[in-house]
Amino acid sequence: MEEKLTLLMSREEIAKAVARIAREIERDLSGNRTEPPILIGVLKGAFVFTADLSRELKVPVEVGFVRTTSYGLNDLPSDKVSIIQGIEMDIRGRDVILVEDIVDRGLTITTLIEHLEERAPASVRICTLLSRPSANNINSDYIGVSITDDSFIVGYGMDYKERYRDLPELYTITPSTCTHNDK
Ligand code: PRP
Repeated sequence: MEEKLTLLMSREEIAKAVARIAREIERDLSGNRTEPPILIGVLKGAFVFTADLSRELKVPVEVGFVRTTSYGLNDLPSDKVSIIQGIEMDIRGRDVILVEDIVDRGLTITTLIEHLEERAPASVRICTLLSRPSANNINSDYIGVSITDDSFIVGYGMDYKERYRDLPELYTITPSTCTHNDK
């Protein structure tokens, strides 16, 4: 069946959400800090958001990336999140902000927090552009938009079968056989 894309957030709406989050981060992380906070983007989906957020922030930040996947065998969604590329920077004693495109079931964030906490940062905050109510027990510090339905979302770094990451806007995608777990 042909896929149908429906606009969810325009470039302007995304930019507004990114700016609001940046102001919240600036408010929380202002003060006499000897070292800047580290934004850690979760690849691949958060590569665009991390880039935009880093440029929107009016305070210096360092930027790193981790890469995870929740794909299992034969590209089927899995309950196990694999860290394909862990953090390479020394985050000991540093304020870290984990930057996600979407907190869906919360598995990726849960896995990554454990990965980061082992490296003794001063603090770990969670920042996500989109958040679903299904993200049990995950309290994100910064949320762009809460998504109340379970539609599958693409664009602005997010994919369906590796496509649509390059779209500057966010879209929901059908067919209806495609669920939010259908990665
Ligand atoms: C997606 C998305 C988040 C994660 C959220 O990544 O980009 O990182 O799933 O899902 P969760 O909260 O249920 O764990 P995916 O594993 O599809 O990899 P990708 O970012 O490379 O597309």
